[in-house]
Amino acid sequence: MSQSTHANTAVLPKAFVIGWPIAHSKSPTIHTHWLKQNGLSGSYEKIAVEPCNLERFVGSLKDNGFVGGNVTIPHKEAILSFVDVVHTNAKRLRAANTVWFEGGKLHADTTDGYGFLSNLDQHQPNWDQSSDGKALVLGAGGASRPIINGLIERGFKTITLVNRTKERAESLVETLRDLGIGSSMVVGDWQDRSELLAECSLLVNTSSLGMVGQPPLDLSLDALPSSALVTDIVYTPLETNLLRDAKARGNVTVDGLGMLLHQAVPGFEHWFGVRPAVTDELRQLVLSTT
Ligand code: ATR
Repeated sequence: MSQSTHANTAVLPKAFVIGWPIAHSKSPTIHTHWLKQNGLSGSYEKIAVEPCNLERFVGSLKDNGFVGGNVTIPHKEAILSFVDVVHTNAKRLRAANTVWFEGGKLHADTTDGYGFLSNLDQHQPNWDQSSDGKALVLGAGGASRPIINGLIERGFKTITLVNRTKERAESLVETLRDLGIGSSMVVGDWQDRSELLAECSLLVNTSSLGMVGQPPLDLSLDALPSSALVTDIVYTPLETNLLRDAKARGNVTVDGLGMLLHQAVPGFEHWFGVRPAVTDELRQLVLSTT
């Protein structure tokens, strides 16, 4: 949908982020910055929507002049029941974070995997080609699914998943195998996580460990090859202990803030008709509000 389409109808495009709670969301800072930076008219607002009101909220989007928006916890799965078109990755991961109107229909997709991959592409170009295709993923919660899906898309040959609750990792791998995309997956034991590093060219923390207010990630990096790339989805603090320790021993690291910024790009383009740039200025702006 282009900005001129909106201008012709003299209706300013409105987008939203919904969640319950929603106060913590950084998305308004990102999208409002892009609207301003691109000289576009429009708005992006935070709306607290209780789970019991989700269907009604989605049903009233058109009448309220919304072109689409972001969907966060706890609505990422429930939203799929209320849209017209569910795109492949959202279907596969049973979760969506972005909805938009296209051809009169409400579409839903997940852009978290795109955000994860684009962050690495931006900060470490060709990271997926220079690696030998062996990743170790820590954590099997909601955040891990799009990341693993992204690594599978990029052709990783072995993805070892370790999670404190092993059954959760096994069940995730089983789901991916059922979808015909889990053949590269191996489940390891949480207590073996430090030794499993010996085999990996990419280490990703998708668990909440190391986040402000959470326990630290207890991991010895001694076995990690010095050529391995290390990334963390935690961005508060921006330099987690994992990233600090990895950098200190010479590994290349990429912090998690870029994933948040890049996942916002496809939504903005759908709603406002311009593909926005993830710049250092935006990073600084979001950091200043963290
Ligand atoms: P999200 O949807 O944001 O990923 P989540 O589903 O609660 O959040 O998952 C959080 C992840 O951090 C999980 O992998 C969780 O492990 P469990 O599945 O065993 O709960 C992991 N995690 C959280 N606290 C942890 C801890 N103290 N030790 C080890 N792993 C932990």
